[in-house]
Amino acid sequence: ADVAGKTAFITGGANGIGLGIARALVGAGAKVVIADIRESALAEAKASLGADDRVETVQLDVTDRPGFARAADQAEARFGKIHLLIGNAGVGIMGPIVDARYDDWDWAMGVNFGGVINGLVTILPRIRAHGEGGQIVTTSSQSALIPIPFSATYTAAKAAVLGLSEAIRGELAAENIGVSAFMPGPVQSNIAMSGELRPDEFKADSGYVKREEELERRPISPLWMTPDEVGERVLAGIRANDLYILTHPEFAKGMRTRFDAILASMPDEPINQERAEAIGFLLGN
Ligand code: NAI
Repeated sequence: ADVAGKTAFITGGANGIGLGIARALVGAGAKVVIADIRESALAEAKASLGADDRVETVQLDVTDRPGFARAADQAEARFGKIHLLIGNAGVGIMGPIVDARYDDWDWAMGVNFGGVINGLVTILPRIRAHGEGGQIVTTSSQSALIPIPFSATYTAAKAAVLGLSEAIRGELAAENIGVSAFMPGPVQSNIAMSGELRPDEFKADSGYVKREEELERRPISPLWMTPDEVGERVLAGIRANDLYILTHPEFAKGMRTRFDAILASMPDEPINQERAEAIGFLLGN
């Protein structure tokens, strides 16, 4: 999709990757609305982007559905139409599966997957209504393809985001709405600070909450990619309407290993042609 003169609504845009995407889009001539739960970070993000006439901020918890509709109204009131939805807000939730309790699952799925769903339900109809086309970008993760040990809740949500994005791509193509699943590897960001965002309602039945302070002290390597580097990759992926936007070739070997194992598990039998025709619409080839 074209981005110059278009409006992008970016969730989780006040820090890290979302801010990197915002910077790339502003640089390419887009208008951006950065929506984030961290009110104080929004002002800083806006100042760092410059281009005040093309940047709007809105405080939003992506799990708040009425709030999402109000944020979209605000975006439209400021810039008219929304063309690009960047469903990027996410929280890093880690811990062994044996300690995962309902509050951990509900928070992880609610923000990391539910936030993307809420963006889609709120904003897709608005993109369709103006008929100018657009782009849906979801921030999944490399972990959707190579699961991270000791992060089942996070991995499950990111795999769901990938599946959702793949499933809707074909459906929206006819309306000139592209879909890209963004699956970054390690990027320098504030994600280790996610624990400070855990709402009180998800603390009582959590096996992870106590560990979240330790996570905040986890060092970030300067060798990890920068938000601005990944922002430029996302911009290129949007322009090319790439279904998959990846960042780290280092993961290729692991991905091949995984997919070879999946293929090796197929029944080793000749293809049944009649059955193939009967299920043809599912085959993807
Ligand atoms: P970050 O913590 O720097 O940025 C995430 C932003 O989302 C923050 O500004 C935060 O305030 C906001 N946010 C969190 N919960 C929210 C909510 N309920 N409603 C609205 N905003 C909310 O972290 P980062 O790394 O930039 O994360 C962005 C996305 O990238 C996330 O979806 C994350 O899972 C994903 N990701 C990050 C990787 C990394 O290595 N940093 C790797 C793969 C994926």
